[in-house]
Amino acid sequence: MATDEGRLRVAAIGDLHVMEDSVAPFRELFTEISNLADVLVLCGDLTNFGKTSEAEILAEDIRACAIPVVGVLGNHDYECGQPETVSAILHEAGMKVLDEQAVEIEGVGFAGVKGFMGGYGRGELAPFGEPIAKAFVDEALNEARKLENQLRTLRTERSVAVLHYSPITGTIEGEPQEIFQYLGSQRLCDPIDRFDHVKAVFHGHAHHGKYEGRTPRGTPVYNVAQFVLRPLFGKPYAVIEV
Ligand SMILES: [Fe+2]
Ligand SMILES: [Fe+2]
Repeated sequence: MATDEGRLRVAAIGDLHVMEDSVAPFRELFTEISNLADVLVLCGDLTNFGKTSEAEILAEDIRACAIPVVGVLGNHDYECGQPETVSAILHEAGMKVLDEQAVEIEGVGFAGVKGFMGGYGRGELAPFGEPIAKAFVDEALNEARKLENQLRTLRTERSVAVLHYSPITGTIEGEPQEIFQYLGSQRLCDPIDRFDHVKAVFHGHAHHGKYEGRTPRGTPVYNVAQFVLRPLFGKPYAVIEV
């Protein structure tokens, strides 16, 4: 049920970091969100170490959510080397885990990838020299390519890009400058600015970053890491109308 203006209310939260001793950590919150939004977007680091036990705990809370849940994994969800299993557990619970394929919900497209690091501007790592340096850069390029392919398939007038890593520096300001290159990649920004239908971008990962920024073309970017939102709004999620 969208707003009177036909806009979709998108609630977003990142960096849930569910641990294996958590007891229904997001149950109440997801119920609250279900009453005031149309879609829930999860921006990665859903688990703390990528353990199946952690994913199972979050899966139970996702099952209790009354609105569609879409999202991406984060680097923490890879820590135990089984992101496919984590993803499958969450998918089984009803979450649309974005990576290769975009989805459409009530006329709004959702495209998403985890993204990767690599830096911005003059600090961007170039694919030069050792094979491992090239492989590192390739990872970011691959993620950007997957995002572009999803955005290209969407036929909706409005879409949302969902990431874990940041495509811009604007929303990681507040973090130490020395770690900017580990917080995201400018390469993720190119596909976003290529498509007019992208109306909002959500990401997490930068726990000490800034809530709002814009791509060079002016598309709004929101860092919805719960640690950024809590002190700002008194709650760990943001709601944006798209
Ligand atoms: Fe995180
Ligand atoms: Fe992260």
